[in-house]
Formats: sequence, C-alpha cells, structure tokens
Amino acid sequence: MSALKILVLNGSARANGGTAAMVKAFSDGAREAGHEIEVVNVAAKDIHGCLGCEWCHRRGKGRCVQRDDMDGIYPLWDAAEMIVLASPIYYGSLSGQLSCAIHRTYAGDKPRSCRKMALFLCSGAHGVYDAAERIYHGFIQGYYGVEDCGVFEATTPEAKSDQMAQRLRALAERL
Ligand SMILES: Cc1cc2nc3c(=O)[nH]c(=O)nc-3n(C[C@H](O)[C@H](O)[C@H](O)COP(=O)(O)O)c2cc1C
Repeated sequence: MSALKILVLNGSARANGGTAAMVKAFSDGAREAGHEIEVVNVAAKDIHGCLGCEWCHRRGKGRCVQRDDMDGIYPLWDAAEMIVLASPIYYGSLSGQLSCAIHRTYAGDKPRSCRKMALFLCSGAHGVYDAAERIYHGFIQGYYGVEDCGVFEATTPEAKSDQMAQRLRALAERL
C-alpha cells in the first residue's frame, strides 16, 4: 500500500450528525492506515454558487472569477489522489453547500491528481439515494474516469453505528 493524499468534502452543517460520524470513522481509519487526510467542512465555509459566467473558460484560464473560500479548496482538490464526497440527503439530492462546492470545480474541470473516489450519504429515510448516486456516477466519479471505491448509504442511526464505522475503517484499510 502506498500512502494516499485524501480530501474529504463534508457537506453537512451538523457537527454531530450522521455524515460527520461517517467522515470521522473513515478519517480515523485512513490516518491509522498511514494516509494523509484533510477534511473540509464546506457548510462552514463561504462558498458561493457558480455564476455560469464562463469567465473561467474564457479569460480565467481555469480560475473562477469569484473570490471566496473556494480559493483554499482548489489546491487541495487538485492535489488529492482520493476525493471523498460526504453529504446528507436533502430533497433527494446532495446538500446545497456540497453542490455549490462541486459546481465551482467546473472552472478547472477534472481534478488533476485524483485516482479514486467514494461517496458517503446520510438520510432520514431508506431508499432515497438514487439521484445522488446518479449525480456521482454520471457527472463526477464517472466523468473523471477514476476508480469508484464505493457508495456508503445510511440513515442517521445507521451512520453512527459501530457496523458503519467498521465498514468505513475497512474501506480506509484496503485503499
Ligand atoms: C432540508 C432538508 C431536506 C431533507 N431531505 C431529505 C430527503 O429528501 N430524504 C431523506 O430521507 N431525508 C431528508 N432529510 C433528512 C436528512 O437527510 C437527515 O436528517 C440526515 O441524517 C442529515 O445528515 P446529518 O446528520 O449529517 O446532518 C432532509 C433534511 C433537511 C434538513
């Protein structure tokens, strides 16, 4: 195993929520396995939505026209060898905060160093993950053409369970 540089974008605003529990279990496992891991709580950041102005693809040479906390995330995004997206399910989809961050990566297109991805989803009910999975496989992991290390789905109690913690630690160990 070679150590990976891992970036986790956590799209939940709840510090003690189910998404955070999944992120913590995976991060603890990844650190113990010798990986370098950075967790960015995007909901605590000032990240605006994409303006669709196309400045990035015209005059910006891949740089977004907006100046906010995405400035600190772009270098991490491009340096990460694995990117994990973690989100609560809101209205059947990814959270607005995570969606804003992902939309803003449109400026630079595909992340430069990413080889692996995973998706963690936390919801109130079962069976509500189809749209988020489609976005991930269709427009993110599939579009980047990187290895999918799995989609992990859980309701809040399941997300906080020992069983889920074990599954996410096992994921970290087998990277
Ligand atoms: C605005 C909003 C929309 C939500 N929409 C859904 C939904 O469509 N389906 C669902 O199962 N749960 C929905 N929920 C419940 C959350 O997915 C659930 O509370 C989840 O555990 C939140 O993750 P967190 O604990 O990391 O914040 C919604 C919650 C909020 C606040």
